[in-house]
Amino acid sequence: MLSRVRDVVRRHGLRGVAHLAVDRVGPRQRVAAVYVWYAIDLERADRPQNPLPEGFVVREATIADVASMQQMTSAHTVTITEEVMRERVLNGVKPWLAISDDGRVAGLSWVFTRSLPLRGRYELVLPDDVAGFEDTVTSREMRGRGIAPGLLTQLGDILPRDGVRAIVTRIDVDNAASHRAVQKLGFEECARMRVVTRDWRTIVQMVVPPGDRSYAWMTGQVERTRSPNPLGRALRRATTRRDAASGSEPPRER
Ligand SMILES: CC(C)(COP(=O)(O)OP(=O)(O)OC[C@H]1O[C@@H](n2cnc3c(N)ncnc32)[C@H](O)[C@@H]1OP(=O)(O)O)[C@@H](O)C(=O)NCCC(=O)NCCS
Repeated sequence: MLSRVRDVVRRHGLRGVAHLAVDRVGPRQRVAAVYVWYAIDLERADRPQNPLPEGFVVREATIADVASMQQMTSAHTVTITEEVMRERVLNGVKPWLAISDDGRVAGLSWVFTRSLPLRGRYELVLPDDVAGFEDTVTSREMRGRGIAPGLLTQLGDILPRDGVRAIVTRIDVDNAASHRAVQKLGFEECARMRVVTRDWRTIVQMVVPPGDRSYAWMTGQVERTRSPNPLGRALRRATTRRDAASGSEPPRER
């Protein structure tokens, strides 16, 4: 054993051995997911319109819709249970549905205001006039018929009544159908997000490309605020909002 150690030291030197040791036991980093963030300015005059198929309507979901919403499963979205629905609605998150001409739930999208959950304890704090679409899903048998674009188009008309001027949404870099669906609506890439696991920790990194700085606020608004202490969380959010109000560019300037 001792002779093996002596051999390794001779080959790599003391410093080399130290490096090898750090490599063996030091932090391990892995990119767990990459997301593309998209944004749209709802006040844009040339915002593309993608109407729902004839006879389809949009309405807010109620607790009575949970069973239908539960059927809308996908690898990219959370499965809706009564508990998820109640928790989200209590936090001001609104579920919206596209209903088919024969009364079935065809599409679902959640509208987040104030903040969007990211990963682990991270969330994106949203300015007052920005909402986020999350967990958008079309029922399997209705995909490819423009349901999601139709639902999101209509929400783009409904949300400004509550002062929303821009919408952001994130899509897994490999989710081709989703990229296509939002690009048809005029959403443009505004940031990239990496979820990195380093040993047992999860780290969220947001990068806004150089050039258009309209969404530069996104990097400053990623927070580890999901603390078990709700008071601390509320205080941090209030402080961030004050900073955002005094410092960052409003997103409508796109
Ligand atoms: C993403 C999703 C919501 C799109 O809904 P939809 O109602 O089917 O939307 P569309 O009818 O516009 O179809 C999507 C577009 O993607 C295209 N598309 C479908 N599969 C595709 C693929 N594998 N690669 C590239 N494009 C694809 C369709 O052809 C269509 O584009 P087109 O109109 O130019 O032909 C739906 O596919 C879905 O529910 N996926 C699972 C859940 C999910 O991934 N949600 C997004 C979370 S961010």
